[in-house]
Amino acid sequence: MKEKKQLKIAGTIDGVGWNYMGWFHPDMPANASESIDYYVEKAKRLEEGKFDTIFLTDVSHIGPGMIPHYLSMFEGVSILSALSMVTHSIGLTATIATSYADPFTVARQMASLDKISNGRAGWNAVTSNPGGLANYSRTHLSKADLYPMKKEFLEIVEGLWDSYEDDAFIRDKKSGVFFDPKKMHALNYRGNYFSVDGPLNISQSRQGRPVIFQAGTSSDFMNIASKHADGVFLPADNLEDAKAFSQELKRRVELEGRSFDDFLLTISHNPIVGRTEREAEEKFQELQALMPIYRIPKPKIFGSAEKVADQIQHWYEAGAMDLLLLRQEHPSGFDDFIDLVVPILQERGIFRKEYESNTLRGNLGLPYPENRFSI
Ligand SMILES: Cc1cc2nc3c(=O)[nH]c(=O)nc-3n(C[C@H](O)[C@H](O)[C@H](O)COP(=O)(O)O)c2cc1C
Repeated sequence: MKEKKQLKIAGTIDGVGWNYMGWFHPDMPANASESIDYYVEKAKRLEEGKFDTIFLTDVSHIGPGMIPHYLSMFEGVSILSALSMVTHSIGLTATIATSYADPFTVARQMASLDKISNGRAGWNAVTSNPGGLANYSRTHLSKADLYPMKKEFLEIVEGLWDSYEDDAFIRDKKSGVFFDPKKMHALNYRGNYFSVDGPLNISQSRQGRPVIFQAGTSSDFMNIASKHADGVFLPADNLEDAKAFSQELKRRVELEGRSFDDFLLTISHNPIVGRTEREAEEKFQELQALMPIYRIPKPKIFGSAEKVADQIQHWYEAGAMDLLLLRQEHPSGFDDFIDLVVPILQERGIFRKEYESNTLRGNLGLPYPENRFSI
């Protein structure tokens, strides 16, 4: 039997926070969601913590009632391109919805981020909420179109990423040979939603192509993810639900002829950690006091560092979480986790002490994807 991969950890940098009151906190810059300095500081900190990837979530349409972070935030690929220049090993994962963008543009943006970062790009492909249809001139479509569209979108993006075989570019000044046209492949895709000839004008990155995550819950989601994703981002109200998702996905991934060992279940948690239970409680109360009309539920993973490490280990060992996606509820959330919990997880041998690789695929322990034309 194959040895279980170590736990993987990602961090969602979501500016002022994924809540309504975070921006009030004295330690939180009120413009954090669009502050390059804030993102750089957090990215460097997550890399010090040996996290696998930064993982940015996104939104496709907004209104005045939304959380402050969504009201004024960076576009994912742009900010991650900037962060790639101040980091070396951590992955850079952006969320882009398949319901609105064009697959040629996304294939190109993500492949460029992958080259700029030397093989560290990831893409979280979501359908997103139907509300976004109105922002992207797709009002003729409905919710029922979103998954059939996503399927075509992914087939096209993956196809475009195989436009050039790994050794297509020779760039030999002496012989005057720039590339081998036999290793360039057009796609000529004709679908119900998209029509794309290709090829894409960028070569393979060091990790072959960006890592694909997908987020959702439905059966249509699972069918597409089991064929086209390296990992899924799932909701996790409790461990039992996460285990049930895992079993169902395992069944579907194996039906696709793939190994479930190379498929990462990603679960988001927003732990509040203290040196002691009491310190964690104080941090929680501090948040509650910032905006008395708004209450956040106590995070499921909560308490002293030792207790938080136990809970994480429990999820990981139960097979309910391969990749912990950390979101900070309190402005000191990443620091507390990195200073107090990461050393315990390292001591227990669950989490790395050093990066194994400097590609995202390498750190996640995912195989190199062979170009379909090279096999
Ligand atoms: C864990 C999780 C994370 C998600 N993250 C995003 C996101 O960052 N941006 C977005 O527009 N939609 C996001 N979605 C919404 C999904 O793309 C999808 O629209 C929604 O889950 C409905 O599809 P479903 O019926 O398959 O769950 C997320 C969904 C889940 C379950």
